[in-house]
Amino acid sequence: MSILREDFLRYVCQTSPEPMGIEVERAHGCLVVDKNGKEYLDFLSGIGVASIGHTHPAVVHAIKEQAERYLHAMVYGEYVQEPQVRLARRLAEVAPPPLSVTYFTNSGTEAIEGALKTARKYTGRADLVSFFGSFHGDTFGSLSVGGNPLYREPFEPLLPGVTFLPFNAKAALERIDDRVAAVIIEPIQGEGGVRIPDHDFLPALRHRCNEVGALLIFDEVITGFGRTGRMFASEHWDVTPDVLVLAKALGGGMPLGAFIGTPEIMATLSADPPLAHVTTFGGHPVCCAAGLASLNFMLETNLPQRAREKGEELIHKLHSLVGHGEFTTVRGRGLLIGMDFTSPEATRHFVQRCFAAGLILGWTLHRDTVVRLAPPLIISSAEIDRAIAIMHDALHS
Ligand SMILES: Cc1ncc(COP(=O)(O)O)c(C=O)c1O
Repeated sequence: MSILREDFLRYVCQTSPEPMGIEVERAHGCLVVDKNGKEYLDFLSGIGVASIGHTHPAVVHAIKEQAERYLHAMVYGEYVQEPQVRLARRLAEVAPPPLSVTYFTNSGTEAIEGALKTARKYTGRADLVSFFGSFHGDTFGSLSVGGNPLYREPFEPLLPGVTFLPFNAKAALERIDDRVAAVIIEPIQGEGGVRIPDHDFLPALRHRCNEVGALLIFDEVITGFGRTGRMFASEHWDVTPDVLVLAKALGGGMPLGAFIGTPEIMATLSADPPLAHVTTFGGHPVCCAAGLASLNFMLETNLPQRAREKGEELIHKLHSLVGHGEFTTVRGRGLLIGMDFTSPEATRHFVQRCFAAGLILGWTLHRDTVVRLAPPLIISSAEIDRAIAIMHDALHS
């Protein structure tokens, strides 16, 4: 074992007994390369982050340029920092109207916390509704609305007043009442196993929230920025949330999260008292410069459409593998794809075989029989074919 790996195991807090443990030398495009020069095709994108590919030249250029101008200058919200303002404006152009005001954070979970706090303060209500199988992050508020008791229980007591409803069950929406501040949902559940709701579920949820005056929060941390073949997954159902939560691909590889709302809702954070929700590093100028370069690239190349086309191609090719080994079904939207296996052991075996052959995949946190594919949206047909060949061999070994 290399000294670096030994130090990794000894000094870096471990979060699982079996870390993938690639000793990363460099990463670019759809590839991660280890210290021995072995290339891995990245079908996980650092879990949904590298949508425009690793180390995109436009992002690297923006980072360098901004790093030479200024790094951190002041806590969030006090100074006019050009990259932050320009990114907020660009987000207002791409977000579904009337969502136009952005609060920047460092991560997805912080953005969820901010969205939940905003909803409580805006509505003056306390209760929250979430869905079984959901994942919204690991800080206390986000964990409180996380839909898997296995991950909540070791950290209880969490926030009171949270109700969990079955995902994609219209009849259950009647349980949302006028004590509810917000309903939080991933339009497509990621960690829950790439679960896509029926065509009428999200419109019905929007309708119910309107009836009782609850805010609707869409967590698009994983589904945002073209991942599902539209800029935001909400567009598939033509449903506009009151608050949209973003992170992962937002920063182009840099740590950046955001929640976006209407001017009226976001004004809640400006007063009574002022400075009641602040962050030192949220919306860091270098991260925002990277995010702006990334978003501009997405728009210039119509990356959501590319994701749609490549997603169809990948799903089509995956269909030809269904029935091989213990791979039973495939589903997805754009380049967020779930592969079902008959057992957790078969899933794990498949992922490990692919990994050994140079293909990075991952199973999902809450469904251990589902392998999630989330390659960079710039993936080529040749790279898809290479991955399919590796998966084919893994299913037969
Ligand atoms: C849907 C969703 N929401 C929130 C989060 C939390 O984001 P972060 O890890 O940046 O805190 C994640 C992370 O995987 C996620 O998938």
